[in-house]
Order: sequence, then C-alpha cells, then structure tokens
Amino acid sequence: MTDFAVFTRADAALEPRLRELYARHREAARRVDWSYAYLLPWEKGRNFEREPWSPDQRRLREPLYVAVETALLTEANLPWFTVSLDGIFRGSLTVLHDFLRAWTAEEDQHSDLLQTYLLLTRNSDPGRLHQLRHQVVEQGFTVEYDTPIEVMVCTTIQELATRAFYLSVARAGEAQDPDLARILRRLARDESLHYGFYRDVIAAHLYADPNYVWPVARVLQDFNMPGHAMPDFNRRMKLIAEQAGYGPSEYYHQVVEALVKYWGVERLKPTLAGAIAARYQILAYTHRLGRVVRRLEGGRRSGGPGSQPDASPV
Ligand SMILES: [Fe+2]
Ligand SMILES: [Fe+2]
Repeated sequence: MTDFAVFTRADAALEPRLRELYARHREAARRVDWSYAYLLPWEKGRNFEREPWSPDQRRLREPLYVAVETALLTEANLPWFTVSLDGIFRGSLTVLHDFLRAWTAEEDQHSDLLQTYLLLTRNSDPGRLHQLRHQVVEQGFTVEYDTPIEVMVCTTIQELATRAFYLSVARAGEAQDPDLARILRRLARDESLHYGFYRDVIAAHLYADPNYVWPVARVLQDFNMPGHAMPDFNRRMKLIAEQAGYGPSEYYHQVVEALVKYWGVERLKPTLAGAIAARYQILAYTHRLGRVVRRLEGGRRSGGPGSQPDASPV
C-alpha cells in the first residue's frame, strides 16, 4: 500500500521554480494599478440618513445584484482564508508564505469594492447587507483540505472559477450598468494573476512527478466554492446560473475542462497504482460532467426541462 502523503506536500527541490513563479507574479502585480477608488461611480452616492433606502431605488435586475452580493460575501471571508492557508503552509516552503502575504494584500479590497458599488448605486439595502456580511464572517471558514498541494489545487480551481464568474456576470450586466461590468472585469484580472501562480505550482509538481495527480483527483471531484455555507447559497447559484450567465456549463468549459487540459491529465504517466487510478477518475469525472452539461445545454437551446439546472457545481 503506497503512502500518498508525500504527494500532498510541496517538493523542496522545486523551490527555485516556485521562486520564479512568485517573481513572475510580483512583476505582473507591479504593473497593475491597485487604486480601485477610480472604478467607483462616486457621483451616484447619496446620504442614507437624509434619504433612506427603499427597494424601488434598485436599478439592477435581481439575478445581477444577487451575483454581486454573493461575490462580495465570498470575498468578505478573506481573513479566514488567510488564517487557514497560513496554518496549512506552516513548515512548508517560505515562498508559499511570501505569496500568501502578497495574495492577501491584493484580495484585500475586493469585498470593499463590491460593497461600496452596491451601496453607492443603492442596489442593496445597507442594513441587510451589513447584517449578512457580519453573519458570514462571524460564521468563520475553514478550508476543506489540510495539506499544501490539496489546498493549492483547490485555490487554483477557486481562482479560475471566480475569474469565470466575474467575466460572465460582467457580460450579463454590461447593458444594465457599464460601471459594474468594468469593476467585475478588473476583479477578474486580479483573479487571473492568482490563478496563474497556483496553477503553475501544481503544473511544476505534475511535471516533476506525475504521481501528484493523486491529490488533483481528490480535490477536483468534490470541489465546493468557499461561499457555499452562506445563507441561501443554492438559491443564489440557481438564479445566477439561469439569469446572470454563470452556471454548470461555464464551470465545466471554463474551469474543469480548461484545467484538465492545462495540466495535461490525458498525457500524464503516473507509475503508482493509486495515481494511475486517480488519473482515470479525473478523466471519467470530466467525461460525466461534460455529458450532464451537454444535456443541459441541449435543453436550454430547445427550452425543454433540461433548461433549468437544479444546482450549480460551484
Ligand atoms: Fe477576489
Ligand atoms: Fe482570488
């Protein structure tokens, strides 16, 4: 019986490669303008005491403001993501801690940007929004994995899914509010940067030893978005899938398929029985998900029963 624990730890021999990836990230981040304040429509702001909020002030369709609010509540849990990842990376390579600190600083303004947008434009009830945010952060969050490689497979999926989510919602909301579309596209760029680092850390491990496919299979097959514990998560995702442009189809094509391809799972040649089985599981899972999604897409085109997915995989 093989002990796969070794494939859940970052390989110290790859530290120079991970340092290169971190340097690449820093260079890309240096070229980014982090002054999010310039993206916000300040001219729309009004005083809530003098002019209280009422639902008729909302300008966005429900699926769109629900999408933005859901993203904000997910991003609001950043303190817990940082604490979890810091614990999981303890004793691992210092470059992972260096990246974690940079990542935290870059993610730090995401929830504030979305919250300020929702309040300035009066698309959210301020009282309810603060209450929800408090509830979500107070609930806390622990990452479902406790090893560096598993957690980085998870963050790769999460960053790519978040990027795809922002781009899809931006497209769906463009005509209603170009300011919102601009904000979401800007956030998608940050998520792309983070995705690139995590994705290539995993790629470096798979290249060095294809048996690292074992933790990839474990995480990919039961991935949950970190916001799944927030109030009404399933209802939110259903509404977003049906009317705000991001659902199982986008998750399959833009996340699962893209990653399986990028990591070259088809071509990998693991040598250990458990890893050989893991590679097959990934291919079988991707195939199954593809079949379900194609059925949904077929139903959507014909307006049949398959047009209403029950739940999103994200
Ligand atoms: Fe983010
Ligand atoms: Fe992110």
